[in-house]
This record gives sequence, C-alpha cells and structure tokens, in this order.
Amino acid sequence: MKIRCGTDIIEIDRIKQSIDEFQESFLNRVFTPKEIDYCERKKQQKYQHYAARFAAKEAVFKAISEKLDNKYSISWKDIEVVNNEDGRPKVNLLLNSINDIESIDLSISHCKEYAVANVVVVFKEI
Ligand SMILES: CC(C)(COP(=O)(O)OP(=O)(O)OC[C@H]1O[C@@H](n2cnc3c(N)ncnc32)[C@H](O)[C@@H]1OP(=O)(O)O)[C@@H](O)C(=O)NCCC(=O)NCCS
Repeated sequence: MKIRCGTDIIEIDRIKQSIDEFQESFLNRVFTPKEIDYCERKKQQKYQHYAARFAAKEAVFKAISEKLDNKYSISWKDIEVVNNEDGRPKVNLLLNSINDIESIDLSISHCKEYAVANVVVVFKEI
C-alpha cells in the first residue's frame, strides 16, 4: 500500500475575478455540471465553494501527479467534487489512465478570504 497526500490553499478573490471576467467559459472549463449546480445553489457564498473545489482539484493533482505521464494528461474536469447527504465531500476521479487507486479522502474548509483542501490517496499494491 502506498499513501500520498496533497494540499492546496487559494485566495477566493482570485477565483471570483476569473469567474467575473470569463464567466461560463471559465466555469465550464474547470468545473463539472454537478459542481456548478452545487456552488450556484450557495448564492452569494458561491465563490467560496468554487474556490474550495479548485483547491481540491489542485490537491488531488499533487497527490496523484507521479502516476501521470505528464501534467497535460489530466484536465480540471477529470477531478470532480461531490457532497454526500451529510455534506461530506467526495472525489470522483473521471480518468481512466490511473487504475491502482484504492481510495481518495478529501477535506475542505473555507472562510471569507481563503479556501483550503487536503487529500489523502491510497494506492493498491498491484
Ligand atoms: C460541517 C462543519 C464541520 C463545517 O464546518 P464549518 O466551519 O462550518 O465550515 P468549513 O468552511 O470549515 O467547512 C465547509 C466544508 O466542510 C465540508 N463538510 C460539510 N459537512 C461535512 C461532514 N459532515 N463531514 C465532513 N466534511 C463536511 C464540506 O466540504 C464544506 O464545504 P463545501 O460545502 O464547499 O463542500 C460544521 O458546520 C459542523 O457541523 N460542525 C459541527 C461541530 C461540532 O458538532 N462540534 C462539536 C464536536 S467536535
């Protein structure tokens, strides 16, 4: 068993600026329809939730990067964050090129200015 962690912190204002400037072209390039639906339901707080998902994608990338052929073999939407009925976040890895992942655990936190994400990935022994 091999374990890798990943972490990321992001300024929420950076994501807000990208969304305000590029709107749907940015949202549709980075976030899946499920993520957009979740964040838009948060109304004025939506930027915190978008930023948290952006941080989560970066954190997952850090944890799995050594398994990728190169950093361009993954796109933002290959990593999807969904929440269960209690609100706990979960990662859907929509990527076929890595087949030895046992589990991915994600934790997210955000306040007015920053969002952070921590990820722990467990790889199978194959
Ligand atoms: C769920 C809870 C922990 C969120 O904490 P918060 O300080 O309000 O908000 P944060 O910004 O730190 O965290 C928000 C993120 O927590 C995550 N989260 C929500 N519910 C969760 C749960 N049940 N389990 C794990 N993570 C959860 C989500 O990812 C959420 O972000 P998202 O909506 O963008 O996905 C908090 O609302 C809560 O219920 N606390 C209970 C604390 C308590 O009972 N303490 C006494 C015993 S320790």
